[in-house]
Amino acid sequence: MATVLITGGAGYVGSHACKALARAGHTPVVYDSLIRGHRELVKWGPLEIGDIHDRARLIEVMNRHHPVAVMHFASFIFVGESVEKPDLYEENIVGGTRTLVEAMAAAGVDNLVVSSSAAVYGNPARAPVSEDEPCRPVNPYGVSKLKMEQLLAAAQKSHGLAWVALRYFNAAGADPDGETGEWHDPETHLIPRVLDAALGRDAAITINGNDYPTPDGTCVRDYVHVSDLADAHLLAWRHAVGNREGAAFNLGSSRGFSVREVVDAARKITGRSIPVVLGVRRDGDPPVLVADSARARSILGWAPQRSDLASQIEDAWAWHLKMHK
Ligand code: UFG
Repeated sequence: MATVLITGGAGYVGSHACKALARAGHTPVVYDSLIRGHRELVKWGPLEIGDIHDRARLIEVMNRHHPVAVMHFASFIFVGESVEKPDLYEENIVGGTRTLVEAMAAAGVDNLVVSSSAAVYGNPARAPVSEDEPCRPVNPYGVSKLKMEQLLAAAQKSHGLAWVALRYFNAAGADPDGETGEWHDPETHLIPRVLDAALGRDAAITINGNDYPTPDGTCVRDYVHVSDLADAHLLAWRHAVGNREGAAFNLGSSRGFSVREVVDAARKITGRSIPVVLGVRRDGDPPVLVADSARARSILGWAPQRSDLASQIEDAWAWHLKMHK
């Protein structure tokens, strides 16, 4: 049983990974600034408050807890914000990861699993998109995630870092036991915003454009359950340890749903009326993003359990009701 350092462990995907690690008998040590994370979501191991840019603090924490691996979730996540503030995203994602890798080298920790994103593909010519497609990001968030992967490849050569980058498509849902879930401020993601409209916290859900080249004109995304993402991190860790290489894997359900389909599914599951208004396109939105996750399934042995759309909306709804009752 091992200790694993979880940067951003007080956040959405990171907290689910902590639960998955604890369930498997490991100790997740959370390293989080709590600027965007939430202390209340740190339930499965100790919390060390610190910034991802603080090299000395990272080394001190690693020297005290002796993690055998690091899972790196500490990252800004908003595509729209990255368009407005590209330097902030470069600094946070590329600069933060560079500092982390330097600290790991100093502390003698050489296994790393990181959160990457479908955003590295930009506007891919194919759906589903496999890892063999060229990476041509169309927003600063995707550019920074791609640079982060390149930085890890360099670190592998220079000091033998074994790493896996997991390219999430659209993380959704919540812990089926209701112990953690999505908690962003502000919330920009589709499913929680649709549920806000279902609860009456918002008057309506605004659809960001209906003139895309898709069957109903709204954007198509591949929603993948956050608990399935968490499980993939344990498999990726094992892969890094066993193969001593660097690799990237897509994580998605391999099925696409349009914004309208998500709203319709949420109406059925919640039994509430969900008013819709039509808005304009959001900057940086590709029309269709669907994962080919065959590589994660065959090489990592990843087998998503709750990544059908209904389970994701059901779990998100249960969490939403708990948070906002
Ligand atoms: N959408 C709406 N109305 C809303 C919110 C979203 O129509 O109120 C639309 C978006 O425009 C998009 C789709 O619903 O077409 C999904 O949007 P999300 O914001 O839920 O997710 P994104 O696809 O924009 O972003 C996700 C991750 C990012 C990641 C990106 C990769 O949340 O962290 O995928 O492309 F960078």
